[in-house]
Amino acid sequence: MKIGIDAIAMDTPDFYVDLVTLAKVRGDDPDKYTIGIGQDEQAVPPSSQDIVTMGANAASQLVTPAIRASIGMVLVGTESGVDASKSAALFIHQLLDLPEWVRAVELKEACYGGTAALMMARDYVAGHPDKSVLVIAADIARYGLATAGEVTQGAGAVAMIVKAEPRLITIEPDSVYRSTSINDFWRPIYQDTAIAQGKYSTEQYLAFFQAVWDRYQEENKLTADNFAGMTFHLPYTKMGKKALDLALPKAEPQTVKRLKERFDASTRYCRRIGNIYTGSLYLGLLSLLDHDATLQAGDRIGLFSYGSGAVAEFFSGILQPGFSDQLQSAVHARQLDERQQLTVPAYEALFSDKVPYDPEDYRPDPAYFRGQFVLTGVVGQERLYEKRP
Ligand code: CAA
Repeated sequence: MKIGIDAIAMDTPDFYVDLVTLAKVRGDDPDKYTIGIGQDEQAVPPSSQDIVTMGANAASQLVTPAIRASIGMVLVGTESGVDASKSAALFIHQLLDLPEWVRAVELKEACYGGTAALMMARDYVAGHPDKSVLVIAADIARYGLATAGEVTQGAGAVAMIVKAEPRLITIEPDSVYRSTSINDFWRPIYQDTAIAQGKYSTEQYLAFFQAVWDRYQEENKLTADNFAGMTFHLPYTKMGKKALDLALPKAEPQTVKRLKERFDASTRYCRRIGNIYTGSLYLGLLSLLDHDATLQAGDRIGLFSYGSGAVAEFFSGILQPGFSDQLQSAVHARQLDERQQLTVPAYEALFSDKVPYDPEDYRPDPAYFRGQFVLTGVVGQERLYEKRP
């Protein structure tokens, strides 16, 4: 039985800051941001948007009557959860008015949480072939104003339906994963911004890629030449580019050309949205599918997931006949093109407007309400969400 991703959708805030403008204000060379880091724009969430609203906005595009009737689990991978106890999956479950006879759970292991959810969904469908699983990977990456990590912030969500006989891409039973406890990046629960050992984290990302990629090739008797495209967790696009380079030394010249071109296609959304942690790899997959019209059914796509702390996994998927009918490329292009650019002071004001985990009551400014689902307030430490008409 084939199991995989039947449909995929994304959501990201309607506001962004231009990184050339930000570089100038910070006194940095813009080329460092756009070439050295490889980012052009960064999504900025207003305080009415969090992982629940973005996750619900992405997932609502996928929940058809047939999915509603077959859904067995709602899994949310995130590292910017809104509560240390109650899962974001339950808030989203309520906003989407999903049936009560499901499991609704949140998973955490830094940026790897989305892949953990995807693999759990895959295993569940193997045991329940008539069921589907809603997988959501949503995050807001915050490092702080004028920090080294600022240029690698971002916000967004990717939702996926995992089921048998998927129409988009299979998840092949070929994955190789590795876990080792290290301190490259983390966020204490009392803090709303992450702590990163910047250079060390980039070294570990590459070391984990090399380890799982070597083992993957050995176990599956596959090389880079067997891949039509490779996608990566993208904390920023240059990071993925460095990992791809590690996969290419023994590849045929046409493989090098193909994988580099398709890597560029996979980074287009990340360049404009930034790091969305758990969703970044899947945003890369969506970006590749939306921007490369030469891909064909039967093509093998590689996926590298990395979550600091650290867990990494490499696996592949095979594109299915008619896969391009499942894509919404024009909708995504419009969604990004219609965003509102913020000045740097406006971005800084939104960033500091209401920091996450502040227990004080507050009501987000309705002037920034966008999308179907919004956070309308936090009152008595309870979060109030609303579905807008
Ligand atoms: N023109 C062109 N390129 C320039 C340049 C210029 N004027 N100035 C600098 N550069 C280049 C540098 O040469 C460097 O490129 P290389 O890495 O290829 O050498 C690149 O721009 C970045 O420069 P620095 O290393 O000096 O950048 P920095 O010290 O300011 O910080 C960072 C970079 C460590 C990534 C920082 O943004 C950060 O800490 N980010 C958060 C942590 C992170 O994203 N880690 C990634 C791995 S961990 C992970 O993947 C999990 C996750 O999602 C967080």
